[in-house]
Amino acid sequence: KTIDSLGELRGKRVLVRADLNVPLDGTTITDDGRIQAALPTLTRLVEAGAQVVVISHLGRPKGAPEDKYSLKPVVGRLGELLGREVAFASDTVGESARAVVDGLEDGQVAVLENLRFHPGETAKDDAERLSFATQLAALGDAFVSDGFGVVHRKQASVYELATLLPSAAGELVLREVDSLRKVTDSPERPFVVVLGGAKIADKLGVIDSLLSKANRLLIGGGMAYTFQKAKGYEVGDSLLDTSKLDVVREYMERAERNGVELVLPVDTVVAPEFSADAPATVVAADAMPADQEGMDIGPETAKLFGEKIADAATVFWNGPMGVFEFETFAAGTKSVAEVLSAAEGYTVVGGGDSAAAVRTLGFDESLFSHISTGGGASLELIEGQELPGISILEEDTK
Ligand code: 3PG
Repeated sequence: KTIDSLGELRGKRVLVRADLNVPLDGTTITDDGRIQAALPTLTRLVEAGAQVVVISHLGRPKGAPEDKYSLKPVVGRLGELLGREVAFASDTVGESARAVVDGLEDGQVAVLENLRFHPGETAKDDAERLSFATQLAALGDAFVSDGFGVVHRKQASVYELATLLPSAAGELVLREVDSLRKVTDSPERPFVVVLGGAKIADKLGVIDSLLSKANRLLIGGGMAYTFQKAKGYEVGDSLLDTSKLDVVREYMERAERNGVELVLPVDTVVAPEFSADAPATVVAADAMPADQEGMDIGPETAKLFGEKIADAATVFWNGPMGVFEFETFAAGTKSVAEVLSAAEGYTVVGGGDSAAAVRTLGFDESLFSHISTGGGASLELIEGQELPGISILEEDTK
């Protein structure tokens, strides 16, 4: 269901679930990509004369207010980008929220405080979530689900709320699902997937499913060391998940059986400690010193990955190749971003960190076919899992 299905919006109170979970350094927003991504839906609703109530989470507070997770800094930036005043309620369903919502005129926008300050948002108990969603629903006449980054979570404002009000998918959710389904549903081949990032445990599901779909799987970043260890290599003090060695061995065997080309780093940039000014040395992947840790893929690997990506018709990339936040160890991530930005095929960057990397390394977003705002959500979609926040919008509820 799309926004059109909600009918006339002038004078209607529309609750918009956005994902304004942006990275903050104190109260400074370091990447406003998710706020920018929320603008098409918000602008459309404002122009239609709706009274817009934006709801979102930020970080992972534990069901009670915590200053460092306040949405207040986000409200200022949202107002700047929208070019209009945005009101802010200091609670979610309490007196402040009610007063702010009651004060809205047609075409005005308000943001409520972090949904996760209320225990009902993420409660395990269905009834508790429904009760919180019912209080949220009382603040609106209709619901637009546009927080793509959170649609894989069965949480009150994502799932239950959609069962209580006339509901629709927002512009961002539609664009994300459409773009990512081009990758999952019969992708043009060669279909190449580049995976990186620190935690291999987060990527097992997607690797498992890609072993029967992708033509090539390139693995870099912190998760590569578990593969290298499984091959019997020394990985020194690098990130390593020993509990996943057997799983990874089975993946390598399956890749071979299925004819999927699994490409691992051939060289690595190592350093004696995890810091921005640690001295960097390039070593072969099978010759890592025992007292150093891997910080980035090496130049030979960057070249190899580039060759494997260049002729792809479809590329999906999730996760940085190294510690790109430190200039000395950003080259691998930069090089993958460069090759992707120049590739002729359909290129999708998925996930919080890789999307942030592309922007902070200064790449023009228009050089990629799609940059997703969802980390976990885009991976689960690629994996073929059902996303609660999407399937509830496809059901005939309200
Ligand atoms: C994200 O950052 O991926 C989304 O905002 C979802 O956040 P969560 O993983 O804390 O649910």
